[in-house]
Amino acid sequence: MKHLLKLGDLDEKEILSVLNLADQLKYEKKNGIKHHHLEGKTLGMIFAKSSTRTRVSFEVGMYDLGGSALFLSNANTQLGRGEPIEDTARVLSRYLDGIMIRTFEQEEVEKLAEYGSVPVINGLTDYCHPCQVLADLMTIREFKNTFKGIKLAFIGDGNNMANSLIVGGIKVGMEVAVACPKGYEPDADIVKWANETGRFTLTSDIYEAAKNADAVYTDVWASMGEESEAEIRKKVFAGYQVNADLMSVANPDAMVLHCLPAHRGEEITADVFEAHANEIFEEAENRLHAQKAVMVKLMKQTS
Ligand code: CP
Ligand code: NVA
Repeated sequence: MKHLLKLGDLDEKEILSVLNLADQLKYEKKNGIKHHHLEGKTLGMIFAKSSTRTRVSFEVGMYDLGGSALFLSNANTQLGRGEPIEDTARVLSRYLDGIMIRTFEQEEVEKLAEYGSVPVINGLTDYCHPCQVLADLMTIREFKNTFKGIKLAFIGDGNNMANSLIVGGIKVGMEVAVACPKGYEPDADIVKWANETGRFTLTSDIYEAAKNADAVYTDVWASMGEESEAEIRKKVFAGYQVNADLMSVANPDAMVLHCLPAHRGEEITADVFEAHANEIFEEAENRLHAQKAVMVKLMKQTS
């Protein structure tokens, strides 16, 4: 593993190895066992979009690992004034030991990795959100003890979250079902790949997707960058809500996951959100542990 650009680049063994290390780091942190694997190293964090979880968990993660992190907003760097990513990559590689980037185009992340000489971690693009899904997989395994025979249902927009959940979920052995409105399907190549595994369903029927599910996942109707479509999307996605009625067709002990931030009354009702808050906030916490595992895997081996 040289970078984390998208989950499609990792095989099952590599994903499980990250999750196992994440479990270990979580145990060590809870028990006050220091793990300074990245002593003296610095991570640069480029943000072209807002963030609470990603920014804080990466920064705290580097601190926990004995290193430090630098917040680099597009607004305050030359990136925001048009300096090419190819040049930024070559400059930052001379100062930093790793770069996390949150931006719009997946291509920008790929170029950063191509032109730079340090590990690059995708902290969300319009195409995917691999760090989130590593934390999601960690959380599902924590609550369900296994991936075998587990059905994960995603309800909503076929966006970055859906793309990464399909890839990650299927790679670790789960069955994945996605329900989204026509015209809002996940990436066509990912759908094609997933269909070939025989463990994937794509439907516009939320009840079909959620039926007998062990984990029900949803995300906002309008993602970052789609703010101007918010009103149209409210209409399109009106039937794509995780509520008590939908949960009644899932397995009785089904968990609910949400990458956050959540919009109560839109993609999820307040009652379902609060009934599953322990799972959702464990999921948010696991961002820290999963990303620390990714950073150790990527940045320790470059020392
Ligand atoms: N889930 C997630 O990536 O949250 P932030 O946008 O707050 O980083
Ligand atoms: N789909 C959402 C995920 C936020 C973590 C977005 O891209 O805004």
